[in-house]
Amino acid sequence: MPTTFVSIGGLQHHVGEQVAVPGWVMTTRSSGKIAFLVLRDGSGYLQAVFPKTEIVAGAWDRFATLTQEANVLVTGTVRADARAPGGYELTASDVTLVAPSVDFPISPKEHGTAFLFEHRHLWLRSRKQVAIARVRNEIEHAISEFFYDRGFIRVDTPILTGSIGEQAGELFATDYFDLGQAYLAQTGQLYGEAAAAAHGRIYCFGPTFRAEKSKTRRHLTEFWMCEPEVAFADSDDNMRLQEELVSYLVARALERCQGEFKELERDTARLEKVTAPFARLTYTDAIAKLQAQGSDIQWGADLGADDETALGAAYDTPLFVMNYPRAIKAFYMKENPADPRTVLSNDCLAPEGYGEIIGGSQREDDYDKLLARIIAQGLDPESYKWYLDLRKYGGFVHSGFGLGLERTVAWICGIPHIREAIAFPRQIHRLYP
Ligand code: 4AD
Ligand code: MG
Repeated sequence: MPTTFVSIGGLQHHVGEQVAVPGWVMTTRSSGKIAFLVLRDGSGYLQAVFPKTEIVAGAWDRFATLTQEANVLVTGTVRADARAPGGYELTASDVTLVAPSVDFPISPKEHGTAFLFEHRHLWLRSRKQVAIARVRNEIEHAISEFFYDRGFIRVDTPILTGSIGEQAGELFATDYFDLGQAYLAQTGQLYGEAAAAAHGRIYCFGPTFRAEKSKTRRHLTEFWMCEPEVAFADSDDNMRLQEELVSYLVARALERCQGEFKELERDTARLEKVTAPFARLTYTDAIAKLQAQGSDIQWGADLGADDETALGAAYDTPLFVMNYPRAIKAFYMKENPADPRTVLSNDCLAPEGYGEIIGGSQREDDYDKLLARIIAQGLDPESYKWYLDLRKYGGFVHSGFGLGLERTVAWICGIPHIREAIAFPRQIHRLYP
């Protein structure tokens, strides 16, 4: 009977059968009479047991030559075993080496962070990194389902742009033929606003770039952002959509990523508390609160990471900090009619000290005010002519936000630094591998 090739994730359909499983060697150990091999193939982990007297001739010696990360083909009989990781074990009859692995650099012992990131292309194979990538995958999938189910149209916005989206000082520029400089997109938002006037409710989801010289655990130079934009929605509607999305993503991860959370030793009790409505605080009240706690922060200053942590500590849910001073926010945010020193904006701060995962706002829909803001920020109105057109032809109340994927994944996974939340992080001192 020909042997069936099976992935570890598919073993459940082959209990009692003779199968061949291709994979990479994680660990081997052997007593005189029985040997164990832990195999991984991306779909799961499998222990194969080799009883010396029952396996084919030569297999025992072949087993002895196996090293970490060698590519092998193991044949044997599938056994259900409740104690085994994944619930199945293989009583092996043979193993063949497909491709060797000599001196794999990442051994089960501890390595320094710099070393691990130099070997990121290999580190990706380790159990924790696999778990993080799988949580990220689940969240990406949940994001697209969330918006699809609510009738949003996904619009893919350009990465090469001619205008600045957020901050002039944080742009990657590149020569663009005869047209001067192009910039790598800091945001898809401005294009998203144009698309919202076509479709009503849209989102974009793609890589964004910031030439920020920040070396914090919250900053990458390339990160993924999901940015919905909604016509006829004001700042309150915007926050309701944010809490609906964030609690949906957390619930989805809790539903489908328990194995990954176990691998990551994530305390999921904190995540269970992430339900709408989230706490809300105006920026002005936030400053007063920080001052009452002994901080010397003054009204007008941006909140730092420590301020965000201190504010968030009082709540189980994420916290919206609303209506920041206009002077520290981007040009497109709508002036707050109740206090024109401020804008109708909000940040969403994740609990457990993770800080800002979302920045959002109602957009300035008044042509003259927007033009004045563009000029006041030293931007070239010519480059924003198309953006101003949106206020000229059927101007509309609209709002949107950007959810940073890596910050969200880092928080949900409970990992300390966002650089592990993306396969190949880009930071100011890192472009390899
Ligand atoms: O607050 P930001 O800069 O907002 C915008 O870009 C708006 N255009 C969004 C919108 O309204 N459509 O960025 C939004 C989010 C942050 O809350 C954070 O999660 C993430 O993007 N982010 C970063 N993530 C990693 N590294 C960086 N350097 C980041 N900068 C922002
Ligand atoms: Mg922000």
